[in-house]
This record gives sequence, structure tokens and C-alpha cells, in this order.
Amino acid sequence: MKNFTIYGNPVIHSKSPQMHNAGFRQIHFNGNYDKTLIEDGKDLKNHFLNEHISGANITVPHKEIAFKEADKVKGIAKKIGAVNTYINKDGKVFAYNTDAPGFLKAIEEFEGIKNAIIIGAGGTAKAIAVALTQADIEVTVLNRSKNKLEFFKNLDCTVYSWDDFICEDYDLVINSTSAGLKDDEYPTSLEMLEDILNVSNYAIDCIYGKMTPFLQKAKENGLTFKDGEDMLLYQGVLAFELFTGVEADKELVEAMRQGLKES
Ligand SMILES: NC(=O)c1ccc[n+]([C@@H]2O[C@H](COP(=O)([O-])OP(=O)(O)OC[C@H]3O[C@@H](n4cnc5c(N)ncnc54)[C@H](OP(=O)(O)O)[C@@H]3O)[C@@H](O)[C@H]2O)c1
Repeated sequence: MKNFTIYGNPVIHSKSPQMHNAGFRQIHFNGNYDKTLIEDGKDLKNHFLNEHISGANITVPHKEIAFKEADKVKGIAKKIGAVNTYINKDGKVFAYNTDAPGFLKAIEEFEGIKNAIIIGAGGTAKAIAVALTQADIEVTVLNRSKNKLEFFKNLDCTVYSWDDFICEDYDLVINSTSAGLKDDEYPTSLEMLEDILNVSNYAIDCIYGKMTPFLQKAKENGLTFKDGEDMLLYQGVLAFELFTGVEADKELVEAMRQGLKES
């Protein structure tokens, strides 16, 4: 049996075990996916190797330290500076970022996206901005505070804080803040948000499983919208392919989606 896990702090709420174990059952793969609380990110790599974990996901707040400690970082993760997937290759840690391509997969059904505005400038916003710019989509980033904007400037994104925002036209608006996760807040002032939604066609919230105030406003403004479920699902599907070497078909993706809904 091969062992897999998700590392984070906290990790108790994670749906990844249900999602991956449902995938393993679907393809009759002899694996088990667990969750592991790691308080100090420096302990993550040792745990992964000493416990002979075959593959793992990494969530908040350890994605950046996991990037630094990996033996080899692959693909788009090099540009993001954060990883969410570890693979054990003969005792060496290979690290990947599937959040970025997972996000692109999640917005595939939104047609003709040429430019997007990301509200928020945290870790998730970084992965999304790199994914979008690599897909030749122009990116604007709007964040509450100024101090996280440097990364995005270096990516050639247009950046604003709330103080200096000038609204243009956007095909897609993305809420990558945690506003609405445990509160009823909008990710910007209501006035600013209405301005943005007025000139946008599509909206996606990274928060999943609830109708956030942001999504509610997107709906009222007639945008096509979705929550973060597909984003979570597809980063998982892409990690699953790395774990098992099996290319996901529709049935497998559906099994993993159902797994996400298990309690
Ligand atoms: N669906 C998925 O698969 C998935 C994956 C990852 C994350 N997420 C979700 O994405 C969100 C962001 O995660 P993260 O890891 O990027 O977090 P993070 O690194 O902590 O960044 C949080 C961002 O949200 C902003 N923010 C927080 N509270 C706000 C408020 N009340 N109003 C306006 N801005 C606010 C922060 O702005 P300041 O810089 O001003 O503090 C910062 O830009 C979370 O809700 C998380 O659950 C979803």
C-alpha cells in the first residue's frame, strides 16, 4: 500500500483525503491518503521522507517553505515560489504546483478571457497570476494593502491598492481574498466592487461551498459565476495524476468530485 497525505496547519478541515481516496477506489489503486498536522514547516520534509510517504499535498501555511526545502522544483512552481505537491522519487523530493494549472482548468468554460482582475494578493493570488500571465491573459491585481504588490509588479501585472484603484474593463473578476470565508465582508468596498462587476462578464470566488457576498453581488449584476470547488477539484486531479501516473478521465474526475462532498 502506498501512503499519501496532506500537510497543513490547520488541516482538520481538509477534504483532500475524501477526494483522493475516492479516486483511488475508482481506479483500484492500492493507496491511502491521510492528513498530517505540521506546526513547524521545517519538519515537513523530514516527516515526508522518514515516514516513506509516496506523495503529498501541502496547504497553508507551508507552501513556501515546502518550495524552499524540495530537492527539485518542477515547472510553473519555480515562478510562483510555492508548491502544493510533493512526490517521493527514490528518496528525493520533487515538488510541483498544481494550484496554477488547476485554476486554468476551472475557468476553461469561461470563453474568450483576455484580461482579468484578481482581488487579493496572497499566496493563492500569486499562483493564479502566474497561471493567467502564462496563458497570455492580462492581469490586474487589486489588494487592500500595498505591501504585497511587488511580486505582481515583477510579473508585469497592473497593480493597485484600494487607495489608487482605477477601474477598467475586465472579462473575469476573481476573489482570492478570504473576505466572505468566515464573515459577510466584500473583498473591496461595495462601491468599488459594483464598479468592477459592472464591466465584467465572469466571476469566480476561490472560496468554495458557499454563496459569498462577492458571488451574491456577481449574481445580482448578471455575471456568469462559480465558487472555488472546481479549482480545488482540479488541483487535486492534477496531483492525483502525479501520484498514480494515471491520466484522469471523466469518470475519475466525477468520482473525486463526489469524494469532496463526503463528510
Ligand atoms: N478553492 C481552492 O482550491 C482554494 C485554494 C487556496 C485558497 N483558497 C481560498 O483563497 C483565499 C485566499 O487564500 P490565500 O492562501 O491566498 O490567503 P493569504 O495568503 O492569507 O491572503 C489573503 C488575502 O486576502 C486579503 N484579505 C483578507 N481579508 C480581507 C478582507 N476582509 N477584505 C479584503 N481583503 C482581505 C489579504 O489582504 P491584505 O494583504 O490587505 O491583508 C490578502 O491579499 C482563502 O479564502 C482560501 O480559503 C481556495
